[in-house]
Amino acid sequence: MLTYDVLIVGSGGAGLYAALKSRMEEDLQVAVLTKVYPTRSHTSAAQGGVNAALANKDPTDTWEQHWFDTVKGSDYLADQDAAEMMCREAPEVIREMEHWGCPFDRTKEGKIAQRPFGGASKPRACYAADKIGHVMLHTLYEQGLRHGVNYFNEWFTLSLLHDGQRCQGVTALDIRTGQLHTIQAKAVILATGGYGRIYWKRTSNAYGNTGDGAALAYNAGLSLKDMEFVQFHPTGLRRTGILMTEGARGEGGYLLNALGERFMSRYAPEKMELGPRDLISRAIETEVREGRGGPDGEVFLDLTHLDKELILKRLPQIRELCIGFEGVDPLEEPVPIKPTAHYSMGGIHTDMNGLTSIEGIYAAGESGCVSVHGANRLGGNSLLDILIFGRRAGNHALEYARHTDFPKMPKNTLEADENRIKTLMENQSKERIAYIRRDMGNLMADKAGIYRNAADLNQALEGLSLLKQRYKNLEVADKSKVFNTALVAALELGNMLELAELVAKGALERTECRGAHYREDFPERDDQNWLKHTIATKGTDGKPVLSFEEVTITRFKPEVRTY
Ligand code: FUM
Repeated sequence: MLTYDVLIVGSGGAGLYAALKSRMEEDLQVAVLTKVYPTRSHTSAAQGGVNAALANKDPTDTWEQHWFDTVKGSDYLADQDAAEMMCREAPEVIREMEHWGCPFDRTKEGKIAQRPFGGASKPRACYAADKIGHVMLHTLYEQGLRHGVNYFNEWFTLSLLHDGQRCQGVTALDIRTGQLHTIQAKAVILATGGYGRIYWKRTSNAYGNTGDGAALAYNAGLSLKDMEFVQFHPTGLRRTGILMTEGARGEGGYLLNALGERFMSRYAPEKMELGPRDLISRAIETEVREGRGGPDGEVFLDLTHLDKELILKRLPQIRELCIGFEGVDPLEEPVPIKPTAHYSMGGIHTDMNGLTSIEGIYAAGESGCVSVHGANRLGGNSLLDILIFGRRAGNHALEYARHTDFPKMPKNTLEADENRIKTLMENQSKERIAYIRRDMGNLMADKAGIYRNAADLNQALEGLSLLKQRYKNLEVADKSKVFNTALVAALELGNMLELAELVAKGALERTECRGAHYREDFPERDDQNWLKHTIATKGTDGKPVLSFEEVTITRFKPEVRTY
């Protein structure tokens, strides 16, 4: 049996930061277990920036202003104490990244450059052209190597082990050999990213964003929070859903409908293209529904009026993506775009240190939910979240592991997973991963997307229940042990089906509009009844059970949210 003091599951920014922190000040044994290679984690796809009120571009910016923007952006569902801490500590983590060598773009004076982003009252997104996630991830990985973090690459976590009180470790599949292993750990930090792939039809998320950590926690009896809140980024490429950074609008890009109108003047007359994502995505859907979209339901991101040198210097990656995936050069013509499922506001229910209800089990980054983003996250706050909560979870786990003995392990830790995999491998049927996954993706996009209503959500739930039945008969066609990526995809699909059900159920239950959750049949925000978090746990019959928790409001009273 392998043994570590702190084990991190997931190798995006939150996981790597947590690993670094838990390894740095003490000679504890720390490992990162990841189903990919660390430098291929989805953090590398983040483009536009990471928020911190450094006041480098606008000297009047303050962390309090950042805090207010975050709370307003969240439609008042964020816990204000947590959002306060995040915004207050933001400049410090950015400086820490800078000292580790993160190559931010610079102003003429040599300070970290900042650009405007959606829903923010000041330009505070620190950037590196349009590749901020990539450079952050590499910086953290390099530092992890330097400080002796161990990496288990291409390992897939199967189960989270605990005795009801404290963490015991995990079980995992070594994808390269097909062997199952138990890893004993005093502390486990789940940092596996979001569940955007449940919208398989149209998402900016990597194929790996299948919500594994949230599903592991849910299946192990832990609670998930606010799962119904899924963010659609307004500007995904028309055909693929690939992200076109908000930085493009931050640099002055326009949104045009098929009539050539800058339609945001109808929806956010002050902020225009720099309104928050929930509002802009709905505006695009409305334009299309009312017949002002293109033939494929697209609108356009127009950069043609911008200085070509500026695009080449600050937005080179998105230009490449436009040319490669749409055959459109943004220097020459507007880019066809549609909203794309982008970010999971919901996740594993934790406190401000990333701690769950079980001693030694933590979650950080998109897989966790503290909550600092509430019903709608601001662009640039996701990369900040992974730094802040990766660091806090790492520090807390370090302290915990330092003062704790190794847990007693249960017998037969692998038996349940062996049986699960055996069933998947021995099933004989016509049910295939790709079909169930496609049907799930269509159902979520069409019935639980930007606009929602009870009839659609009921259909989504019925459909998901049928898909779960079909999943039980799923046959994994590849019977080999070594690098069986079909088996991994089957396990991921099982995770996604659990989470998709929670999204639809939470969305049906929440009879109001708040942030990214828009109910056509309940078109108002309802603070009287719904200023609360949704908590989901797995019932003994395997079905989700919902309860609710108060939102922490410290300074900002909920107001009507206009931009
Ligand atoms: O538009 C973007 O660059 C995305 C940033 C984010 O999701 O924070």
